[in-house]
Amino acid sequence: MKAQFPHLLSPIQIGTMRLKNRMVMSPMTTAYCNADQTPSKRLISHFEARARGGVGLITLELVTVATDHPYMHRSMTLGEDRFIETHRPLVEAIHQHGAKVQPQLSHTGPESVAPMFGGPQPVGPSVAVAPVWGWPSRELHEKELPDIAIQYGEAARRAREAGYDGVELHAAHCYNLLGSFLSPLRNKRTDDYSAFRLETRTRFVVEVLEQIKSRAGRDFPVTLSISGYERAPGGRGLDDTQAIAPILVDAGVDCFRVSGGISDALVTQMVSRSEAGDGMNAANAESIRNVVDVPVMAVGRIHDPVVAEAIIANGQADLVAMARPLLADPELPNKVASGRYRQIRRCISCESCIDSMQTYDDLRCALNPQSGRESELSLEKTNTPRHVVIVGGGPAGMEAARQAAERGHKVTLLEKQQRLGGSLVLASTVHGDNEHFLDFLKAEMKRLPITVELGVDATLARVRVLNADAVIVATGARVLTPEIPGRELPHVLTGSQMRASLESLPHWLQRFIIPSLLRTASKAWMPLGKKVVIIGADLAAVELAEFIAHRGRRVHLLESGNKITPEVGKKRRSEHMDRLDKLQITLNTRVGIVRIESTGVVIRSSNGTERLVTANTVIIAGNPTAATALANQFTEAGFRTKAIGDCTGLGLIAGATRDAAEAVASLFNNN
Ligand SMILES: Cc1cc2nc3c(=O)[nH]c(=O)nc-3n(C[C@H](O)[C@H](O)[C@H](O)COP(=O)(O)O)c2cc1C
Ligand code: SF4
Repeated sequence: MKAQFPHLLSPIQIGTMRLKNRMVMSPMTTAYCNADQTPSKRLISHFEARARGGVGLITLELVTVATDHPYMHRSMTLGEDRFIETHRPLVEAIHQHGAKVQPQLSHTGPESVAPMFGGPQPVGPSVAVAPVWGWPSRELHEKELPDIAIQYGEAARRAREAGYDGVELHAAHCYNLLGSFLSPLRNKRTDDYSAFRLETRTRFVVEVLEQIKSRAGRDFPVTLSISGYERAPGGRGLDDTQAIAPILVDAGVDCFRVSGGISDALVTQMVSRSEAGDGMNAANAESIRNVVDVPVMAVGRIHDPVVAEAIIANGQADLVAMARPLLADPELPNKVASGRYRQIRRCISCESCIDSMQTYDDLRCALNPQSGRESELSLEKTNTPRHVVIVGGGPAGMEAARQAAERGHKVTLLEKQQRLGGSLVLASTVHGDNEHFLDFLKAEMKRLPITVELGVDATLARVRVLNADAVIVATGARVLTPEIPGRELPHVLTGSQMRASLESLPHWLQRFIIPSLLRTASKAWMPLGKKVVIIGADLAAVELAEFIAHRGRRVHLLESGNKITPEVGKKRRSEHMDRLDKLQITLNTRVGIVRIESTGVVIRSSNGTERLVTANTVIIAGNPTAATALANQFTEAGFRTKAIGDCTGLGLIAGATRDAAEAVASLFNNN
């Protein structure tokens, strides 16, 4: 595959560190370490899986230089000598697969969560309030800075003694300590460390580099992460970063990882949605590359190896750093190297990983249930293959089939329709990112030894004939339509009708139900009036609203609850809120739906006032509800049965894949 990806697959040198290829894992905080800030078995398995997947260099998550200023409730540190030993197993696990590894060293500065543990007040160049936690930091006195620079130097020395190949210094996004010193948004000082003068703005970072080089050795490689353009009014411009970069090289930086933007409570500009565009920071990286003689990495939405190859081939960067793509598919580099590029499970930018950090304090990937559970849900081949019959070819069913086949079981998948995909087909039509996952699962059904039977009713008799050892039922949710007066009117559509209309198409037409085709065709024609009211604002309803608004309709969402998309986390919700705003979609939450009339929907607001919201077409999204009757039948008939996915209650893609992996892992646990 070198022919298709010659640049990505060629080795490169960062200072004294030689990488086997130019694919780098960008740091991602996992919160998997032990409560005592040491690497846990879970964390080691997680990073080892990425090393096994062929990446050239892993930059671990943020590792603090000061034990009393943690980053999260669970984050690693190299703040004292006693931590050196605890890092060795992690380094060795990664090295045995030929990858290099470096911690991302940082003093958390204004982002310190120390107050959560009764620790000291966060510190910074000037007083600021951390966007995530809301604690104010205090301004550091000049006299305190040398000790902090020494903390960096000592942490780098410990990193070297633990066997790491280098360190990354975190100085990006106008947060943590170094990023704050480098940004005029956070550094309001007027002394010798002021961000407003060229000769003083890099002083602290240079002092930190001096300590690192003197304590860890001049030959110990240092990468520095930096925002090219801070993309905020008053923030550092690209021109300034170009002035800074050569000074930092003179002080000992061996490589830059260039991102962009500043940090906010939902890391909007750091971890960006697909609208931000492919390789969103590549031009910034190129600008820096043109003023320094050390290698430069680009990071940010480099989710497709073809894009990655082009970034290097075009001279925009020397290496590419990927974060979410390696959560979704740790094998991405191996797949690039071995001609299996099309088998990559591509990140769909659903933001579940960030949202899961906020909701569960735990990093999870919606597409990859093994991520963070590498040992627990290992796909090791079984010694006792069984016949697993899967009922339903939606995301949960296909994922279960994939997991079971990977483990070496014989798998038969029965699907009632003439096509695979279930609810993911509509979800991919209205939200195009999802289609990558649909395509991946469908391709896996062909690649793996899975017998797929379409147009089949999974009756007890049918499954008995198959001699199944276990049955996994993944038949999806039942969508209930609320009893709203007027719902029988001709201009009213329901979510279940829309699904049924796809399902009732003749067999020969079913194979044209391809989300990208439906998206294109719907631009020419949709059976909807000019003004559409959607009743309901769950994720499916909101994505439908965006889809319809993109096609020139005026859309109004009505929701009786108090928020949109209650089933997703804050980051994903805020992205939808932005899209609704951009598309000029009207939204009313906390409204009662009184009745539907021929001219619109009568609503009642919280003060009891009734109003007519006009509409040519009304869509009632409906409520997806658990439907386990079929699974119960199999259980009662004596089959070892598991119900998974939406038929047990709405769980979205994340729920489907998690249920699938857990079901397959637990089915034959005892024998
Ligand atoms: C869950 C998660 C945790 C992250 N943690 C860090 C971190 O500790 N340090 C850091 O510099 N960037 C962190 N990032 C940002 C990534 O390194 C990367 O810059 C960003 O996700 C954009 O790259 P991508 O589009 O390839 O995901 C994190 C990203 C994610 C998704
Ligand atoms: S959770 Fe979603 S955004 Fe995060 S890595 Fe997985 S697919 Fe990508």
